[in-house]
Amino acid sequence: MIQDYHDFLAEVLIPEDTLQKRIAELGEQISHDYQGKNLLLICILRGGVVFLTDLMRHIKTPHAIEFMAVSSYGSGKRASEGQVRITLDLNTNIMGRDVLVVEDIIDSGHTLFSVIEMLSTRKPNSLYICTLLDKTERREVKVPVRYCGFEIPNKFVFGYGLDIDEYYRNLPFIGVVDLKRYQHN
Ligand code: IMP
Ligand code: MG
Repeated sequence: MIQDYHDFLAEVLIPEDTLQKRIAELGEQISHDYQGKNLLLICILRGGVVFLTDLMRHIKTPHAIEFMAVSSYGSGKRASEGQVRITLDLNTNIMGRDVLVVEDIIDSGHTLFSVIEMLSTRKPNSLYICTLLDKTERREVKVPVRYCGFEIPNKFVFGYGLDIDEYYRNLPFIGVVDLKRYQHN
């Protein structure tokens, strides 16, 4: 049985209406900044997918979307430099494109650091990050964040694309996990 999330939800950190209002603002800002550009949104699977689909509907400039998946070597291990590999690559040539990587959350920054490094060798015209959440105090390496939805404290969060052991990505809000009450599957 999958544990009911109500049993380990410590608090709702960002409610649905706050998320949606901020995502609309980000979409407006991106629409303004990328006018006349050849915008390509690259979503990092799977966490970024809910954010991407809401965000893109607020972007008024023409754009394409692509998907990429990465994993860190060793399950459950934190990504560290040089330990990230592509498990699903793009189907598109990004040379000369204005690329915006759409991600759910940045923690240490190692995952996106590797992604940015790999993508930059393919010669895009520009390459930036749009992240919904940022645990800024945890940052170990610098990554080019151009848009950030919310800076959050160092707590384990779930919902709105973010999983706890692969479940509850569907929730419309960001919740904090009470790790003492969470039973691992
Ligand atoms: P980084 O490489 O340390 O920046 O880790 C980023 C990745 O860790 C994200 O793409 C998430 O998959 C995962 N992650 C970090 N913090 C959380 C969290 O609070 N909830 C769920 N996933 C998280
Ligand atoms: Mg992720």
